[in-house]
Amino acid sequence: MTKTLKIAIDGPSGAGKSSLAKGVAAKLGLTYVDTGALYRTVGLYAIRNGVDAADKAGIIALLPSLTVEMTNEEGAQHVYLCGEDVTDKIRTPEVSHYASSVSAVPEVRQFLFSLQREIADKRDVIMDGRDIGTVILPDADLKIFLTASAEARARRRYAELTEKGIKTSVEELIAQQNERDARDSGRDVAPLTPAEDAVFLDNSQISLAETIDEVIRLATEKQLTAK
Ligand code: DC
Repeated sequence: MTKTLKIAIDGPSGAGKSSLAKGVAAKLGLTYVDTGALYRTVGLYAIRNGVDAADKAGIIALLPSLTVEMTNEEGAQHVYLCGEDVTDKIRTPEVSHYASSVSAVPEVRQFLFSLQREIADKRDVIMDGRDIGTVILPDADLKIFLTASAEARARRRYAELTEKGIKTSVEELIAQQNERDARDSGRDVAPLTPAEDAVFLDNSQISLAETIDEVIRLATEKQLTAK
């Protein structure tokens, strides 16, 4: 099998990973893979089955009856939960809360591991998440650790949600973000930590276009081109 090109983007929620990854994907001809969507899909399944976010055993018990698939339809990623397209249903604050909880369960991470690997083996990808550079793609050609201040991250999430008609406030989002950051970074399994060979980018003060340009520059420096 010919080696595929892999770019990993990790960082806390709201740092702008998906906008960055989409922009770089478009410029370099890569497939963008949003791995958070997979944890969100498991979270949605837990909600639908009435399993509490803190009920680890209950979440593990759901896995045998769960199928998660990911497709690329006209350049956009779709996720399927037991055959149902749930792409638009996984973007609520409740699902965000559940996704963060289920992602701390090792069995859930194991459950989603091979799916992520298979996607990356098949095509040239830019994948974003929390453990891409450390666990899923330790062999990535380029690893970025993207951060931004808590305030900048919450303001961006606020703009995103408001645009979708979801009512919230920056204060509420900062509180939720702090809670999720603590859980994502403090968990025993695959905590949010930068890979040793990751390049740090803080985009609190720079625009999305400038952040994309910086990653393109890094990719060009490494002579990374899609096949
Ligand atoms: O990127 P996101 O906000 O859509 O991710 C939802 C949750 O899933 C988030 O709380 C962290 C978790 N996650 C993870 O643990 N590992 C990943 N590779 C991607 C997301």
